[in-house]
Amino acid sequence: MNTKLEAKPFRLLPLVIAILAGSTILSPPSFAQTRTTAPEGVGKYTGPGSCASTSCHGSILPRTENDVLQNEYSTWIVKDKHSKSYAALTGKVGERMAGILGLGKAETAPRCLACHALNVAPEARARTFDVSEGVSCESCHGPAAGWLGPHTERDWTHEKSVALGMYDTRDLVRRTEKCLSCHLGSEDKFVNHEMIAAGHPDLFFELDSFSAVMPRHWQEGLPGRRQGEPGRKETGDAAHSDPWYDVRELTTGQAVQLRESMLRLASRSRGKIWPEYSEMQCYACHHSLTPPEQSWRQARGYAGRRPGDPPWNASRFAVFRDVVHQLDGQGADQLDAGIAQVTQLMSQLNPDRDAVASAAANSARLADALVAKINAANYDPASTLRLLQKISADADEISAQGEQSAAQAAMALQSLFVAYDRDVKFQNSAELRAAISALFQQLENPSAYDPDRFARQMQQVNALLR
Ligand code: HEC
Ligand code: HEC
Ligand code: HEC
Ligand code: HEC
Repeated sequence: MNTKLEAKPFRLLPLVIAILAGSTILSPPSFAQTRTTAPEGVGKYTGPGSCASTSCHGSILPRTENDVLQNEYSTWIVKDKHSKSYAALTGKVGERMAGILGLGKAETAPRCLACHALNVAPEARARTFDVSEGVSCESCHGPAAGWLGPHTERDWTHEKSVALGMYDTRDLVRRTEKCLSCHLGSEDKFVNHEMIAAGHPDLFFELDSFSAVMPRHWQEGLPGRRQGEPGRKETGDAAHSDPWYDVRELTTGQAVQLRESMLRLASRSRGKIWPEYSEMQCYACHHSLTPPEQSWRQARGYAGRRPGDPPWNASRFAVFRDVVHQLDGQGADQLDAGIAQVTQLMSQLNPDRDAVASAAANSARLADALVAKINAANYDPASTLRLLQKISADADEISAQGEQSAAQAAMALQSLFVAYDRDVKFQNSAELRAAISALFQQLENPSAYDPDRFARQMQQVNALLR
């Protein structure tokens, strides 16, 4: 086959480069209306308007008098793509996609609304609720009707809100699960190769990079809020703050992502469509033919699979593997063996469903056993630097696993670099930043991805880490 993907640039590239350059993406706010609503029963969704008053979460500028910035609504509506997610369904691409898939109008198709809006049952919608507001506050924070009134009271706690229906996004594991419910998908809401072929972008995720790009409308980690950021209340309470919180975000996010992807694979192996092409490396199939003497694929060889069988997309393990080896040697060896089995089974033309289901479930268990440990581990300058070194030194192995793994490496190196450089500072910070940006540039045209070239650039990053 000789289908070549229309060159899709790495979607986060411009934003990631802006973050590396230390700037934020701002556009002038032009809204902030005040709406009020009467509290209704617990479990009902009220819509973002109930949070938007300037004295609540609709302030234009961040406030400093308490831990909450209070400009969350403004950030969401102006800078956060989630507020445009319903519009993606009514736009040209969304419309065409729904046409190809025979879904009628995308904006009324439950299959699309599942992730592009808050598509809750009619009885769970308060009067103020409007589905066209897209992925809004309550998509992540849970139905507000129960806690909307009391949560502004003095001495009110987060725990009390959680008891009244708020989703606990402060818990990193739960937070990642929430993001992945849409950014990885599940049995109930999913993006598969059929949808991708109709025009949907492939889904990928990394918690820390995606949170930065979103951008964050919170001060990271109280415990662990980021020092020096606008709006942070400088209490000087060191025990309360964890400047290495985004390293934890990266590592915990990766652990949860691997587990969830294994659960997704297990459920797909029992599904209607099998094999599911989006579980494999896209450019195994989507590349132009090369004369044998110029083929890096033939030069690389076909270790562990029959020549011509598409390899499994191991990007949700490729970088995490290095994280686990640094943090938990024993768990790492078991996980290596589990994933090796998945890789071997999935890199065959017609993977055995039962064998995949049980191997994936086994790896999900192994990953799950690591989640809490990795979330509870200590992160500091030394361990952050070691992670940077370890991942960049793994250049050959990661690069050989395709551009999706390369993208994970670029995002991980970027996250770790930003965390370290903010608190400790590299002497050659500008050079390192440029070297990491060059990794993203190589992903701009995935069809032209060259593993040797990517590996050389990772080695260059490695050489600059001192
Ligand atoms: C499993 C969740 C999920 C489902 C189901 C889903 N999407 Fe998406 N969609 C996403 C995510 C997440 C993104 C953003 C991907 C990224 O940038 O990483 C996205 C992006 C898009 C984009 C590109 C938006 C842009 O700004 O460029 C379009 C268009 C789109 N989806 C349309 C649809 C349509 C039409 C359907 C139904 C056929 C659908 N989606 C179903 C999660 C989903
Ligand atoms: C895509 C998911 C998502 C959406 C949409 C979203 N948030 Fe958040 N929000 C988070 C995460 C993750 C955090 C950080 C964890 C935390 O502090 O609870 C957060 C933190 C907050 C905080 C700080 C809470 C605290 O405990 O310190 C407030 C306030 C907030 N969000 C309000 C809003 C409002 C208002 C909206 C809608 C205008 C909104 N959020 C939309 C994910 C989201
Ligand atoms: C209810 C589903 C849902 C949840 C939960 C969700 N997202 Fe999204 N996210 C989307 C959709 C849909 C889009 C695509 C919006 C568009 O482009 O129109 C998107 C887009 C994004 C983008 C922009 C990507 C780009 O290509 O520019 C980022 C960044 C992002 N999400 C981060 C997060 C993070 C971090 C979390 C968890 C805290 C999260 N999302 C939770 C559905 C969701
Ligand atoms: C096992 C082989 C295989 C794998 C792996 C695979 N595809 Fe496809 N893909 C195909 C085939 C076959 C078609 C249909 C080509 C046609 O209709 O001419 C297709 C069609 C497409 C199309 C529509 C054609 C076009 O040029 O717009 C897109 C987009 C696409 N795939 C993206 C992806 C992405 C992204 C991945 C990885 C997540 C992927 N594919 C993985 C075989 C594959």
